[in-house]
Amino acid sequence: MTDLRTPAVIINFKAYSEVEGDKALRLAQACQDVAGRTGVSIVVCPPATSIAQIAGSVDIPVFAQHVDPFKPGAATGRLTAQLIRGAGATGTLVNHSERRLKLADIGAAVDMCRANQLVTVVCTDTSATSAAAASLKPDLIAVEPPELIGGDVSVTDAQPEVIERTVAAVKRVDDGIKVLCGAGIKTGRDVKRAIELGAAGVLLASGVVKASDPASVLEDLVQFL
Ligand code: G3P
Repeated sequence: MTDLRTPAVIINFKAYSEVEGDKALRLAQACQDVAGRTGVSIVVCPPATSIAQIAGSVDIPVFAQHVDPFKPGAATGRLTAQLIRGAGATGTLVNHSERRLKLADIGAAVDMCRANQLVTVVCTDTSATSAAAASLKPDLIAVEPPELIGGDVSVTDAQPEVIERTVAAVKRVDDGIKVLCGAGIKTGRDVKRAIELGAAGVLLASGVVKASDPASVLEDLVQFL
């Protein structure tokens, strides 16, 4: 696998208006500044339209938010592993809650990413789906209860058992796969709790992307790592 240093904090920019145009680059630069000051592994997932610009401007890892299990060719509108790699991404989310794929397509996407040296973070919603995803051999799994995504209650407070069960379930299938958690994570305390529950980091979006001062939220998020 291509290396991703953990514990990792992965920031999914989604398609929020806060990251339209050059605003995505400014947010990525803020992430890079905090990563540089603190030494913490911070990864950014900008919209596909900004991957090349950001990957050419920052030296922290840039991941895509999605990849389609399509080969290069007549695949209008699709994001192939080759296209995102060529734009400068070094990894990608797969099967995010807001961009689900069928199980067979997740497997194909993971294989295509591996063939193109892209780190894969397969998103799941329960320990059972995480175990299924682990059998497809991604590099990481990020478990996120969908009902908590974008809300103010952290998965680490609302459903800590989902994280613990997922860590155990994934380990039973393949103990080389690291588990992240996400949904509602906003503070350093949430990140600390995630690590205590066995996670190798967190995947989050709104807490940083929609913040009026993303850098100070990031500083708070990474303070215990
Ligand atoms: O991809 C991360 C995400 O789904 C969690 O979103 O806004 O709850 O941090 P948020």
